[in-house]
Amino acid sequence: MNKGQKLLKKAKKIIPGGNQLLSKRSEMFLPDYWPAYYKKAKGCKVWDLNNKVYYDFAGMGVTACVLGYSDDDINKALIQGLKSGSMCTLNATEEVDLAKELLSIHKWSGMAKFCKSGGEACMVAIRIARAFTNKNSIAFCGYHGWHDWYLATNMSNSKNLDKQLLPGLKTKGVSNSFKNSIKPFFYNDINSLKKLFRKKNNNIGIIIMEPMRGVKPSNNFLKQVQSIAKKNNALLIFDEITSGFKDNYGGLHLKFKVNPDLAIFGKSIGNGYPISAIIGRKEIMQVAQETFISSTMWTDRLGFIAAKTTLKKLKQLQINKKISIYGKIIKKGWREIAKKNDIKIGISGQDCIPVLRFDYPNNMEILTYFTQEMLKKGFLAGSQVTTNYAYNHKIIKKYLKSADIVFKKIRTCLEVGKFPLKGKIKHSTFRRLTG
Ligand SMILES: Cc1ncc(COP(=O)(O)O)c(C=O)c1O
Repeated sequence: MNKGQKLLKKAKKIIPGGNQLLSKRSEMFLPDYWPAYYKKAKGCKVWDLNNKVYYDFAGMGVTACVLGYSDDDINKALIQGLKSGSMCTLNATEEVDLAKELLSIHKWSGMAKFCKSGGEACMVAIRIARAFTNKNSIAFCGYHGWHDWYLATNMSNSKNLDKQLLPGLKTKGVSNSFKNSIKPFFYNDINSLKKLFRKKNNNIGIIIMEPMRGVKPSNNFLKQVQSIAKKNNALLIFDEITSGFKDNYGGLHLKFKVNPDLAIFGKSIGNGYPISAIIGRKEIMQVAQETFISSTMWTDRLGFIAAKTTLKKLKQLQINKKISIYGKIIKKGWREIAKKNDIKIGISGQDCIPVLRFDYPNNMEILTYFTQEMLKKGFLAGSQVTTNYAYNHKIIKKYLKSADIVFKKIRTCLEVGKFPLKGKIKHSTFRRLTG
């Protein structure tokens, strides 16, 4: 009996969808058979409700836990913070420390603000940028959270998010006040952005995008975007919620040497503890004083402590380099076992977040089978791996050895033309086709 699925059935009766995040739904991995809940997570190991232990090669907290789960140094710092009080009438000094650290890494920036989640931080950045430019419209590329400003793009054209997120995403419940003002453009397609600015009275004051998702920028794409922003008096916002502090300490824009006007971080800056950050040029950030952006829980001390400790560890141990090496080994391993078993695959993503695709029309079915069979071998595995400091060469070797065995089974299934799935095929997850 899968205790996790049993609990999920109960949860679905009292929580819409059963949980709070689409990407953590069982249906995204292995419908009806995914362990669904955990008792304990430590390093890169996860214990489910049946006390089965798995290595996590399926996301590590949706790419957040770059140091591994329940990191001892963070735990120690947090326990100290808890004992000294995590909430108070007065402010936590760690907030100032964290701001100083972020600004010292990003010399182009002059001020920081903090909140808790990624989508929320995007909303804050958008508000500040709008207040500064006094222009209503936004050009966006990629995924930036669940908020009205973003989803509203599908109000003017229900296909606007198709190449960015979920095809046919509904706008039910979204305010139509942003209708016609949120315009998509596409990664490495500078003409798609130019076209938006060519329109008369476009009123675009913000360009928001990830510096990179699936593929690297080509033809100086980021520099070209930056120059279009400058020419049109629009602010460039880099959303580094997923990319930041993984491949490169600070973020990918530092590596690509293109500075935005504002940048957003979340997820791994606190190794999964709730903390997100918006940094920007001083004259822009100061406008936050003239618009109301304020929340009680943004002052919580633990997020600041988690982020301070995470950043210190990432820097001192040069973890970014290490995890990119792990990712390269995984990508190389996938290529080798695919060749050996005569399976067509596609690989994308930054080295530290490699993404696997089976190049067949039934990719989703094969991925579901891959997850099903890897689970039997003690791995939470899907299409995307988040490399982290808790991995080591031995664990990665074990993963690739198991994947090789499953690839062999996949070859047989391809020949027979049937994949013996216990349940349904998984749902397609966010299609973040920024690359
Ligand atoms: C680029 C990007 N922006 C925004 C978000 C939303 O962040 P959150 O889920 O913390 O609200 C995500 C989450 O995956 C993301 O990858």
